[in-house]
Amino acid sequence: MKKAFVKSYGCQMNVYDASRMVDLLGREGFVETGTVEEADVVVLNTCHIREKAAEKVYSELGRLRVLKGERAEAGQDTTVVVAGCVAQAEGREILNRAPGVDVVVGPQSYHRLPQLLAASKAGRVVDTEFPVEDKFDHLPARRTPGVSAFLTVQEGCDKFCAFCVVPYTRGAEVSRAVDKIVAEAERLAAAGARELTLIGQNVNAFHGPGPDGRDWTLGELLRRVAAIPGVLRLRYTTSHPRDMDEALIAAHRDLPALMPYLHLPVQSGSDRILAAMNRKHDADTYRRLIDRVRTARPDIALSSDFIVGFPGETDADHAETMRLIADIGFASAFSFKYSPRPGTPAAESEDAVPEAVKSERLAELQALLERQRQDFNHATVGRTVPVLLEKPGRHPGQVAGKSPYLQAVQIDGDVAAIGTVVPVRITRAGSNSLFGEAIGEAAAAATAAA
Ligand code: 5AD
Ligand code: SF4
Repeated sequence: MKKAFVKSYGCQMNVYDASRMVDLLGREGFVETGTVEEADVVVLNTCHIREKAAEKVYSELGRLRVLKGERAEAGQDTTVVVAGCVAQAEGREILNRAPGVDVVVGPQSYHRLPQLLAASKAGRVVDTEFPVEDKFDHLPARRTPGVSAFLTVQEGCDKFCAFCVVPYTRGAEVSRAVDKIVAEAERLAAAGARELTLIGQNVNAFHGPGPDGRDWTLGELLRRVAAIPGVLRLRYTTSHPRDMDEALIAAHRDLPALMPYLHLPVQSGSDRILAAMNRKHDADTYRRLIDRVRTARPDIALSSDFIVGFPGETDADHAETMRLIADIGFASAFSFKYSPRPGTPAAESEDAVPEAVKSERLAELQALLERQRQDFNHATVGRTVPVLLEKPGRHPGQVAGKSPYLQAVQIDGDVAAIGTVVPVRITRAGSNSLFGEAIGEAAAAATAAA
């Protein structure tokens, strides 16, 4: 039996692509392995968003070269594939820097992986094209999606934030057709998925052709997918503030299946920096937008991305970001030091913020965000929340799931309850998980066989 090891770095789009590559390799007779030493094919699905992420790939490729040599001595072939955004951005250059690599394939052409693997027997191959055919039409159906599954509805980005490589690595924005998305969602639900997260680099810019010949918005798409039997929960990510339209906000008000959680990156609270970043909105527009979302869905939990130390950022700019965080209150967040990326406009700037200042600002910002996260989690203690049970818990007799607010929850219960939503009274907040007990009939069902 041939074995494939697939490792993904970076965002949810890559997680989705990696799972599709596993399906594709499955069709070619490969079984997935978690042990790289026994893999005949190794795929690194790479991320180019920050320098650290991109450099990690090269150290991994160095280790793989050694492993490949050892396997060769034992008479075993190993094919090393670099996929994802580093593949797209650096292409042939990877072959020069990493002698062990056999195949370089970009995020828009990985459906050709079987042909590329075959071609690599004759020599190293690179495919970083943006082909005209729809890669999704060439991928096999997913067999075991899990209780919570990602579904790509849109790819690429036309926003061109000054710091970001995505418009270059993932290309222009493209939305999938509504009927294809609905068909994939129906297949996922039939295979046991209960929660679908519609994903895209700029998902709320979705404008896929609908069955009525019009382009649909994300709000309309969510309404349609919510009607699919078996789909209990919906989420979407990642969004841009400029594309939060009325229909999407109304979906948060009207659709019980749409979870009260919104990841809406703001990056900075300073108007000067937001303008320099080419974000096309100011801090007050973001505040007013959040007010409207909260009016539609008062219990919505908010999440965001922040960059500290963008070129030219002063202490006063940073203070504005801290003020915005304090004003809004986030349930969770991701925050990063600015990392100059080749080919982006901001990389040309000369007023770089010193590394030590970036570190200081990041620590201050993360301390506030962490306090807000802990406060949010502690506020759930004593409440009863519906939890979608997704997998066995950390210890035998425990089951793990998610609250509507994307908090990890552990309860005592039987794995037979996985895939159901049960009311759980939260009894304790740990640093990364909530703990609780299933109540009422659900408790009886959940613990019947435990
Ligand atoms: N430096 C630091 N962070 C970045 N991000 C994107 N590009 C950069 C960069 N050059 C962050 C943004 C984005 C998230 C996915 O990654 O916050 O929302
Ligand atoms: Fe990058 Fe901005 Fe597009 Fe997000 S919206 S992918 S940060 S260019």
